[in-house]
Amino acid sequence: MREGGRVGITQRTGRWEDLFAARTRGDVGGGLGSILALSTATDLISFSGGFPDPATFPGPVLAEILGKLIAQGDASAMQYAPTPGLPGPRAFIAERLDRLEGRCPGEAEFLITSGAIEALELVSKTFLDPGDPVLVESPTYLGAIMAFRSFQANVEGVPIDDKGLDVEALERRLAGGAVPKILYTIPEHQNPAGVSLSEERRRALVELARRYGFLVVEDVAYRELGFAGDRPTSLWSLAPDVVVQVGTFSKTFFPGVRLGWAVGPREVVANLVLAKQNTDQCAGALGQRLLEEYGRRGLLEEQNLRSRALYGRRCSVLLDALETHMPEGVAWTRPRGGFFCWVTLPQGIDAVELSEQAMAERVAFVPGVPFFPNGRGRNNLRLAFSRIDDEVIPEGVRRLAALIRRAVKEPSR
Ligand SMILES: Cc1ncc(COP(=O)(O)O)c(C=O)c1O
Repeated sequence: MREGGRVGITQRTGRWEDLFAARTRGDVGGGLGSILALSTATDLISFSGGFPDPATFPGPVLAEILGKLIAQGDASAMQYAPTPGLPGPRAFIAERLDRLEGRCPGEAEFLITSGAIEALELVSKTFLDPGDPVLVESPTYLGAIMAFRSFQANVEGVPIDDKGLDVEALERRLAGGAVPKILYTIPEHQNPAGVSLSEERRRALVELARRYGFLVVEDVAYRELGFAGDRPTSLWSLAPDVVVQVGTFSKTFFPGVRLGWAVGPREVVANLVLAKQNTDQCAGALGQRLLEEYGRRGLLEEQNLRSRALYGRRCSVLLDALETHMPEGVAWTRPRGGFFCWVTLPQGIDAVELSEQAMAERVAFVPGVPFFPNGRGRNNLRLAFSRIDDEVIPEGVRRLAALIRRAVKEPSR
């Protein structure tokens, strides 16, 4: 049917996808959706999503704070907020960064975002034209790969080892002519591998950024979750001229609040604020005020202490179980913080096939492939220990180990 002289969309081709923007084609990946979909499954020993344990979430005190905000008639909590964030929550976050990082961002150097994933989206929107080169750790957070690819960037990987990003390999790439606009890194307790960048490499990395003129995007999602409470020097505090730090309150407060931050050079932040104006305009004001009130009472730091103890204990239960059950030829990282342990299977064992067999045994994990920008990782898998009861970890690992033993014996299955 013709409406206003135009042919109805579905009559043209019958398929909506023919009208989708070019940026949705290609391998943007839908990996996060399938991980989130598993989040409600019961009867499953799940090492799958990188979810915080609800036991860490704020309790009744949040109801009290919320009640007070409403009773006081605090309109700022209900109103649209300025795009960079409300003044009170901004001051709280800036003071906290000053205390934790030894550097206080200037007024024009930071904004509050709707989670770290939005900050990555804003950075992408600001910097990336189709085909622009972006370097990421290989493997890395698949949400970041998706964010960069959704702006049609050309995403390539740089290897990591037990000291984090291999900065010498990066240097060779740069010397060989690579000209990335952005280098994305998760320096602490990396997702998915659980490794951290050494102090020495941190300094070398920011020097490379200065020398070759690219932006380092430092994602500190797990920085505050070191089991021993240790925090190496942040890249942003080392080099605020070439680093944007992207942070989140999802792992330290709770993800439902959807709050994060980005700090970086003023010129960059000004553009992130512009980009946010036509993304969601502002992060939710109610959440910002809750965070501020909760944080100012010192409760965020108390919550962190409890979270670190919980995740540290879970991680050691997992490492013990791997030691006990895994056959020869299987290797894994030994995280000192965060949510994840990264497993390397014997050559030729396919983690995607294994995940299908594991589902039949009611065990879930994420196979390695989606964490690589280039299709590697078939013999890797990620085990999240953040939201799984201590009691079921050994049984989950025992079932996985049995499947791996079987696959080693019968590789053609
Ligand atoms: C490295 C990393 N960055 C960012 C995020 C997303 O954070 P947010 O919930 O603030 O969007 C995650 C969540 O899994 C993550 O692992």
